[in-house]
Amino acid sequence: MTVTIVGSQLGDEGKGALVDIWGGDSDVVVRYQGGDNAGHTVVHDGTEYKLSLVPSGAVRGKIGVLGNGCVVNPETLFDELDTLRDQGLDPDVRIARRAHVILPYHRVIDGIEEEAKSDDDLAAGTTGRGIGPTYEDKAGRRGIRIGDLLDPDVLRERLEYAVPQKRTLAEEAYGLDVATSDHADAFDIDHLFETYRAYGERLAAESMTVNAGEFLTDKLDAGDELLFEGAQGTSIDIDHGIYPYVTSSNPTAGGAAVGSGVAPTVVGGGEVVGIVKAYLSRVGTGPLPTELDGTDSEEELADFIREKGGEFGTVTGRPRRIGWLDMPMLRHAARANGFTGIAVNHIDVLAGLDEINVGHAYDLDGEELLTMPATTERWSRCDPVLRSFEPWEEVDWSAVAAEGYDAIPDNAQAYLDYISAEVDAPIYAIGVGPGRDETVVLDNPFEQ
Ligand code: GDP
Ligand code: IMO
Ligand code: MG
Repeated sequence: MTVTIVGSQLGDEGKGALVDIWGGDSDVVVRYQGGDNAGHTVVHDGTEYKLSLVPSGAVRGKIGVLGNGCVVNPETLFDELDTLRDQGLDPDVRIARRAHVILPYHRVIDGIEEEAKSDDDLAAGTTGRGIGPTYEDKAGRRGIRIGDLLDPDVLRERLEYAVPQKRTLAEEAYGLDVATSDHADAFDIDHLFETYRAYGERLAAESMTVNAGEFLTDKLDAGDELLFEGAQGTSIDIDHGIYPYVTSSNPTAGGAAVGSGVAPTVVGGGEVVGIVKAYLSRVGTGPLPTELDGTDSEEELADFIREKGGEFGTVTGRPRRIGWLDMPMLRHAARANGFTGIAVNHIDVLAGLDEINVGHAYDLDGEELLTMPATTERWSRCDPVLRSFEPWEEVDWSAVAAEGYDAIPDNAQAYLDYISAEVDAPIYAIGVGPGRDETVVLDNPFEQ
């Protein structure tokens, strides 16, 4: 069977922790979208691993697959693999030959386009990893795929077509003087050819490339369990998120099928688990109705939660913006993904506060809305209709994790019950701290 783990908000919901736990019951962990814009923290045997590209399951000795829906920066890939090997692990990672390659010019264009957009408040606050420009080239049918790195003639031909266009874009549209900039190599066909051909040789030498759909379906046929590891989150999905402040892929559950080559009937026949952070964090730009930023006391509260929850970007180190849980956003995620269950993380971070609120609905021009409007312009005009919850006290969360659900403070249980009822899905796990052992697991999706 398959279990698909999806971020239900704005990314960084703590997906890595659950992928790590349930990945232990799977044989293969698959990423189906995104690239090294993701930042997952996995704590295993007391060691913290920060991964951007390598599927978290690889830390636990599972086969990790990067599906065709991913965009792969080979430099990051090999850096992460080498670091894991230096830490004594032996990761087994396979890459779809249909996955697209992030080239240095994609990163350069990501940076200069964000700068150009910032004048008009259109910058998404990207991670600068070249994700958007790579997906643009994929859709524009001028991308370079992992399989192309294995065939020098094809690689050369593709580069000769794409690179002059990218150079013209950088120079004419954005005024970059490529030759005198620090980025000359990023637009140099010979340099790119040699570097990426060498990556292709390493991929071939280590037998890392696969036809992902076939590889994964064979595994399923052989009785293996597959865990799909979504990166990012539903509200930064290119179709279902707060466009244009989104990433350029589909983190939502449908992406698991399209981005891996496993049939939607198979993915849909499995479990889809939404990962929920008990409040909101946001690394990028754009509106955020429940943001805690209006008054000094709200900002103080946001600072407190940010520090306590370690809310600084794993990839970029940027301080994350903080808000109350946004229930219309969660209802939207539950519908778009079809959650069969959820995990709620970070309830420990909210412990000890004087007040706890939830954006239960929105007020848009006097009308009450229970789900997100489809345009970001309308969303930005929504005021949250807050619902207050009784706060819960600080407790020894390690002890709670050891004792189980009944040890969770009553008021926190009431908060969890409310979330579960609103999204109409049972709670499979509750995160009460950052460590691998600090999760109260109620159900295992592989056993549903
Ligand atoms: P991901 O991108 O969704 O995998 O999440 P990140 O790893 O970027 O961010 C989640 C952060 O929160 C990591 O530092 C985790 O160790 C931490 N974390 C996960 N679950 C919990 C939890 O329940 N409580 C606390 N305090 N931290 C958590
Ligand atoms: P994980 O997997 C949170 C955000 C960026 C920006 C927008 C587009 O750790 O949850 P991109 O570089 O993808 O073109 O940036 O998406 N973003 C994330 N926010 N968590 C992530 O990943 C993110 N990956 C991208 O901040 O607003
Ligand atoms: Mg993250």
